[in-house]
Amino acid sequence: MSELKSYAVWDAGTRWFHWINAICVIGLGAVGFTILNASALDASNAGKVTLKTVHVSIGYIFILNLFWRIIWAFLGNRYARWRSILPGGKGYFHAVRSYIAAFIAGNPEQYLGHNPVGRLGIAALFVLIFILGITGLVLAGTDLFFPPIGHWIAQWVAAPGVNPATLVPYTPSMYDSVAYESMRAFRKPFASIHVYSFYVLAIVVFAHIAAVVITELKEGGSIISAMFTGRKIISKPPQDEESSDRD
Ligand code: HEM
Repeated sequence: MSELKSYAVWDAGTRWFHWINAICVIGLGAVGFTILNASALDASNAGKVTLKTVHVSIGYIFILNLFWRIIWAFLGNRYARWRSILPGGKGYFHAVRSYIAAFIAGNPEQYLGHNPVGRLGIAALFVLIFILGITGLVLAGTDLFFPPIGHWIAQWVAAPGVNPATLVPYTPSMYDSVAYESMRAFRKPFASIHVYSFYVLAIVVFAHIAAVVITELKEGGSIISAMFTGRKIISKPPQDEESSDRD
């Protein structure tokens, strides 16, 4: 049997991001799904505003955490950086073929960071949460007049003589009807992208969890506990090992 070796892989910045993001995505998905079905649930306008306010409050934490992770991808350790997250780079397609062939042959290659196929999944997750974050901020501004763009939206739709700072969501008497209709037309594509990205994210998150469990079972490496402890325990020489990785 091969000797097991322990390596420090996920730094604290990456682990904190991962678990804060996972909790926010579960919360946003659950409240978002309720908003999607609010009419079927016979929710009042006040109820809908409360649901959206809760959703957006979690959303701000989610966006700050994502913003932090984007910075950490320049500052964190080797496995936290864009080079280890995004697919591509020298020899990438060869690495994908070799990884898949070894996996099918029942003798999987082991990686310390993301394996080459995993990088595709992680990149898809990042793109989707980024799109959900940006479209979410536009919806928060156009529905509830919340920051960062709500201030301008309120100036756009306020009826003559109404102070934009006092606009209340779902109160048509305070809006200029023509401006409000134009604003709703502007917002519509963002709402569609937000909800379709939610469906795609649900599928990719399910695939992410399935892939992690399958990899743990077939390859070992204690990859699930590594997202808590930071350490991977590997039985073969890892494909992406550098001399500084062993301790
Ligand atoms: C993983 C991240 C997110 C997921 C899975 C998600 C999911 C959803 C879903 C399913 C809906 C219901 C769509 C509808 O009723 O048409 C929704 C609505 C909404 N989301 Fe998100 N969301 C996320 C992030 C955010 C963020 C970061 C914000 C803002 C900070 C945000 C703001 C909103 C707003 C304002 C609505 C109400 C839109 C409307 O009623 O038309 N979302 N979200």
